[in-house]
Amino acid sequence: MIRTLRVADRAPVAALLGAAFAGTEEAGIVAALRLAGDMVLELVAAPEEAPLGYIAFSRMAAPAGTLGLAPLAVHPACQRQGIGAALVREGLDRASARGWNGVFVLGEPAYYARFGFSLAAAAPFGSRWPASHLMALDLGGLEGKGGPLRYAPALEGG
Ligand SMILES: CC(C)(COP(=O)(O)OP(=O)(O)OC[C@H]1O[C@@H](n2cnc3c(N)ncnc32)[C@H](O)[C@@H]1OP(=O)(O)O)[C@@H](O)C(=O)NCCC(=O)NCCS
Repeated sequence: MIRTLRVADRAPVAALLGAAFAGTEEAGIVAALRLAGDMVLELVAAPEEAPLGYIAFSRMAAPAGTLGLAPLAVHPACQRQGIGAALVREGLDRASARGWNGVFVLGEPAYYARFGFSLAAAAPFGSRWPASHLMALDLGGLEGKGGPLRYAPALEGG
């Protein structure tokens, strides 16, 4: 049910993002990430033809070799059925298999802790994002690292 995004999924995914976030901002960010060549991995949850969930991982500007998880969205009619969790787990498995050092996410610690993300792992990295919601998951390459953290320009606001 989880598969790599296809070009034909782009319009339905934009609609899905609009429904999940109640606005067009996330679809615009996703389009900008693709255009800039910063998008690394896009997955959809599609038990049938239409995507019900979506997750994106983009290359962080810093630190090198890490990904930013954003956005994650499940259609409002299909939430709380494990679709979000399945997307996160599949994405992290693929990121790990491809040798990425770690993944950052800005979100609710109560949700992302179940996948191994922690505020503590992100603490050595200075950023403009709130420390109360910036988490990291070490995939084997973050230990002892620190310094500035910057998302891809589309996620940093331009
Ligand atoms: C967040 C989101 C992706 C979760 O997807 P989902 O398929 O509903 O989640 P799952 O079924 O995998 O997990 C549900 C669990 O997550 C919890 N959860 C969902 N959103 C949460 C949140 N914002 N904070 C804390 N817990 C949350 C639920 O309480 C539920 O917990 P339980 O299993 O203990 O009852 C989905 O609710 C969504 O698209 N929301 C709108 C967009 C959004 O906020 N995206 C996150 C951006 S960081």
